[in-house]
Amino acid sequence: MGVVGCGLMGSGIAEVCARAGYATVIREVNSDLLARGLERVRASLDTAVSRGKLPEAEREAALGRIKGTTSLADFGDCELVIEAATENVEVKTRTFVELDQVCAPHAILASNTSSIPIVRMASATHRADRVLGMHFMNPVPVMPLIEYVRALTTSDETLEVARRFGETLGKRIIVSKDRAGFIVNFLLIPYLCEAVRMLEQGFATREDIDVGMMLGTSYPMGPLTLLDFVGLDTTLFIADILFDEFKDPRFAAPTLLRQMVIANYLGRKTGRGFYNYERGEKPPSR
Ligand code: 3HC
Repeated sequence: MGVVGCGLMGSGIAEVCARAGYATVIREVNSDLLARGLERVRASLDTAVSRGKLPEAEREAALGRIKGTTSLADFGDCELVIEAATENVEVKTRTFVELDQVCAPHAILASNTSSIPIVRMASATHRADRVLGMHFMNPVPVMPLIEYVRALTTSDETLEVARRFGETLGKRIIVSKDRAGFIVNFLLIPYLCEAVRMLEQGFATREDIDVGMMLGTSYPMGPLTLLDFVGLDTTLFIADILFDEFKDPRFAAPTLLRQMVIANYLGRKTGRGFYNYERGEKPPSR
């Protein structure tokens, strides 16, 4: 297994692969980012052990299966590489061109993109039939789903091999065509944007919007809490891609969301979003 990018998603993907028994190489652009990513894996494994989800002995075994690198050249032996780099089409396409050069001809290349058409990356390689989307959900070790994206060029065999692999990670697989938003974000982004519009219009308080959906429809967290969790910048980025693609007002990002991103109120990662975590505010919970 190879994983490109050791951020939030890449480190989670490497963790679930290593926990499932796969020798996993993970690459970051420099050693500082790599060290931080590997630390994130260790912390998540510690949580899994403390919650009784992973036997103590398995923690070291899983860590022992992960090898960090700063060079894509170390992916030569990988059967499957999942790219979880920055959500930027140039960066991703360049990564696929390089992976195509260093990986064995039979290796499958996947992207964890949440929004960029897979055919863009597939077409940059000489193995467009062996490229697909594998969109993991955040937090990767906890969420039981992977959304697969079949590009125009993806072969039946690639999808089948990838499906069997995903099941060995203990995840449920759904398959979408290669259209912006796929299945999950096509439904989730308008919902999140509507919650922001509701707050912006002064229709209800942030707590009542969150409690309404949490207790009224059994969502694990309300939409504004989820926005803080996913990142307002990530949500805005995906909303803009969806709006560009479909020109449908359902996907138009609310002004408040855009302004909060400009102000760096990105959610948990910057200490402030719809709730101010730096000041110790806690979103409503069950
Ligand atoms: N490894 C394994 N299991 C772990 C773990 C880890 N590192 N950390 C926590 N867990 C387990 C816990 O033991 C617990 O299991 P249990 O239910 O059997 O007791 C479960 O995961 C929940 O953990 P917590 O008790 O710590 O936390 P909460 O109950 O508060 O749940 C949450 C946290 C899972 C984040 C939950 O609030 C949730 O599901 N929120 C919604 C998340 C969501 O919607 N994600 C998708 C976002 S969209 C996306 O990713 C697409 C992108 O493109 C935008």
